[in-house]
Amino acid sequence: MNSLGLLYSQIGEAELQKLSKNFYLEVTKIPELRKLYPEDLEAAERRIYLFLLQVVGGPSTYSEERGHPRLRMRHLQWKIDSKMRNYWMDAMLHALDTVSLEEEVRIVLIHYFSQAANAMINHE
Ligand code: HEM
Repeated sequence: MNSLGLLYSQIGEAELQKLSKNFYLEVTKIPELRKLYPEDLEAAERRIYLFLLQVVGGPSTYSEERGHPRLRMRHLQWKIDSKMRNYWMDAMLHALDTVSLEEEVRIVLIHYFSQAANAMINHE
């Protein structure tokens, strides 16, 4: 079984970049989700890209620039209920469909994103 932190060499930076770009493209299609994000999505795209790079075992530029991820804490400023979590997952699942990944890699990523998104829920 592939583990998340060892996927870097199998995914590659180009696909992760594409995933991050297309994730934000999807975000713009869901008004309820889009309104949480800043005007400038380019900076946000870079943040998620660097974060994902680190998560899959690539360079740790994210933490050098942003410190410890503390994702749940960082997300407390937005009201995230299960509906919002589903909007986020829809955007990520659609973005995942646009990148070419080995099936096993896709499964590990979907599993990770679902768990992480569940953990981000901070409102009923
Ligand atoms: C569950 C629903 C979620 C919502 C509504 C949500 C919303 C947001 C918003 C509005 C931002 C600010 C964008 C920016 O300026 O960077 C953000 C940042 C971020 N999100 Fe989420 N998010 C969700 C789930 C997740 C999940 C599951 C992950 C990771 C697997 C994630 C990773 C990040 C990262 C890395 C940042 C940038 C943090 C920073 O360095 O400031 N988010 N999120």
